[in-house]
Amino acid sequence: MKRFSITPFAVILPLVFIVLILLGLTMRANQGELIQVDPQLFYAIMTLHGLGMAGTAAVGGLTALAYLLLRYVNLNTKLVYFLLFSYLITVVGLISATLLGHFGPGWYVLYPLPFKPMGVWPNWSIGLAIVSLIVLGVAILLIQLEFFRACVARYGLKNSLGWQFFTGSGEYVPPLVIITVDAVVLPGVITTLVGAALLMLYFVKWLNPSTELDPLLIKNMIFIWGHTLVNITMYMGVAVVYELFPEFSGRPWKSNKFVALAWNATFFIVLLAVFHHLYMDFVQPLPLHITGQTFSYLAAVPSTVVTVTGFISQVYKSGMRWSFVPLSFFLGILGWLIGGYAAVIDSTIVVNNQFHNTLWVPAHFHTYFLIGFYLILWGFLFYAMGSKRESLAKLGLASYVLGGVGFLSMFYVGGAFGVPRRYAEYSMIPVESLSHLAQILPKIAVVFIPYVLVGFLLIFISILGGSGREVQRV
Ligand code: HEM
Repeated sequence: MKRFSITPFAVILPLVFIVLILLGLTMRANQGELIQVDPQLFYAIMTLHGLGMAGTAAVGGLTALAYLLLRYVNLNTKLVYFLLFSYLITVVGLISATLLGHFGPGWYVLYPLPFKPMGVWPNWSIGLAIVSLIVLGVAILLIQLEFFRACVARYGLKNSLGWQFFTGSGEYVPPLVIITVDAVVLPGVITTLVGAALLMLYFVKWLNPSTELDPLLIKNMIFIWGHTLVNITMYMGVAVVYELFPEFSGRPWKSNKFVALAWNATFFIVLLAVFHHLYMDFVQPLPLHITGQTFSYLAAVPSTVVTVTGFISQVYKSGMRWSFVPLSFFLGILGWLIGGYAAVIDSTIVVNNQFHNTLWVPAHFHTYFLIGFYLILWGFLFYAMGSKRESLAKLGLASYVLGGVGFLSMFYVGGAFGVPRRYAEYSMIPVESLSHLAQILPKIAVVFIPYVLVGFLLIFISILGGSGREVQRV
């Protein structure tokens, strides 16, 4: 059995998270005109915060799955450390490109960004950001391939995807975490390859600025990569809950044909819902818009239905003790559902006409990350470190969730009234009443953010109270 120490992950990921929250606080305080940040620096901070939060979540999810998969399959653990090493290189590269070079096109960019406008950020910062993302992308691709290889080696292709429930052959039923992981890792591999092709195109353009790229193609590639990565990160969190929750409820959470069907359907849905990002591109063929809306609606059904019904049967009359880990898992799943349904609302074409690029967009993805996926990750780290500091962690959780809900509500209110996203200064909004409202909301949000920060510090201290739990081979 290969050894795997969770401790470096449990120290580094939360430390980066704290810095990223401080950057978020800076942005919101600037939007509320409580401090003054130069607009160029604001956009550099926004880029670092967005890329950092999405990247840290992906690395956290993959780490958690590696730890849990080791119970069942033989993974090459060197690749998990390689992931951490690559992540650190990327963090240093992105901090340099953004905070030193003021590279600030945003976490996703619309071509001809990040190459134009020329001179706003230096050419080296563009190259450094591209190379940094390539480094992390390669590590993410390798670990996903390793997960798939290891699961297929132990269970076979058909069994590890849960197909034996439909073909009637093969009675070897793998644990639920295996079926879920394979169904989310495969779209992850496909779309990481799209991301790799995109970054190579950027790299060529950076080396040879006269290269012309097709803006629509680039936009489609960005969203196929980015949308899928953040979606499967959330699903990784759900897989963690499937695997660990039964240890607290005392009831098994087994694979069955409904769950297998749901996650196999999710494989296709996650790939096809992406087109809801592209409604504004009228040159896009109409069937793609229809595909986007249809599959976004479908996304709200299979994985959520099997998870919610599974959750109810885990909890109902179980008499379980709600310690920090199951509590953070429960709240994390709730955050996923609320943020997910807010996303489905925005994926409706007529609604998207109003909400597109308003604060509704950050509202929904902050919900399923801040009080969704990340809560599950903190619960996992608490478990894997074997911490016993229950009271401190629960106090932290209460403060974190209270602060999170208050902070997020201001994004939702802003979005519902049409406040645009990615504005450094709301005084620039030409409609006076909207500009006025837009400036009040961040002032309220800023009162809540310290609760998230302090709450998280308490959770972090309690995570560090453990010394690391050995992986139990099943
Ligand atoms: C208390 C914690 C957080 C605070 C205070 C915060 C604050 C902010 C603010 C003010 C913005 C700019 C919104 C706009 O005007 O467009 C933003 C954008 C963003 N945040 Fe957060 N955030 C937090 C947590 C998170 C988490 C957990 C994630 C996880 C993925 C995240 C990911 C992003 C992304 C991807 C963007 C978009 C950047 C872009 O448009 O390029 N944030 N955040």
